[in-house]
Amino acid sequence: MSVAAGPCLEVLPTEEAVATRGATLLAEALLDPQRPPTGLATGRTMLPLYGELRPLLGADKRFEPSGWRSFNLDEYVGLGPDDPRSFAAYMARYLGEPLGIPAARMQLPNGLAPNPHLEALRYRQQVQTHGLGLQLLGLGENGHVGFNEPPCDAFAPCRCVELSDATRQQNAAAFGGEAKAVPERAITLGLADILAAEEVLLVVTGANKSSVLRRVLQEPPQQLVPASWLQGHPNCLVIADRSAVCV
Ligand code: GLP
Repeated sequence: MSVAAGPCLEVLPTEEAVATRGATLLAEALLDPQRPPTGLATGRTMLPLYGELRPLLGADKRFEPSGWRSFNLDEYVGLGPDDPRSFAAYMARYLGEPLGIPAARMQLPNGLAPNPHLEALRYRQQVQTHGLGLQLLGLGENGHVGFNEPPCDAFAPCRCVELSDATRQQNAAAFGGEAKAVPERAITLGLADILAAEEVLLVVTGANKSSVLRRVLQEPPQQLVPASWLQGHPNCLVIADRSAVCV
């Protein structure tokens, strides 16, 4: 795959190599006290990466769990940290508990807030107060980042969104395979918030993402492929395994 301009693409041989590279970059950002908080993501793509990150951080003398500072991209409306299907529970399971990070240091939108629209405003304000250093992103099969479903503009703010049928289907595994059990709404950072981060790291693995990744990198930025707006970010790195770049 050739990229004319915009994001820098690194193709690595395997999903494991992507996880190692991603974890190294993430650890550098998390361990630098001079940088603003790190933006974190959930999803299956991040599991091997967080698997590599845990021992990296655990072995580093600079790692101080009580100094952790991160903001997650999104959360389902109606799910709180006590629900194992929430993104808050995901973060606790894969990073917070194994590394002893206080839950309050890993911030996410509150899926149980009585008014999710107001919660999105509150969360955006909080993110803007601190700013974001490195923003980690996965890629939805329909081109979404966070839960910015197509069509989506580059100036979309943090907000409460309706999830598409495609996304509820894609994320059904965590809900007993039932797309209908996936919440209908979520709170997500918008493309505007994501593009305001100092640096963006998009991680893409698997052949099921290859056609959308090609559109993200090679087609003009457009509403129908929300991740394509990343082409306008001055410091965006895409790391992908070979299967995600070969059709
Ligand atoms: C989900 C999340 C995204 C995630 C993406 C890819 O719906 N909202 O933050 O990065 O879709 O998910 P996966 O890594 O499971 O393919």
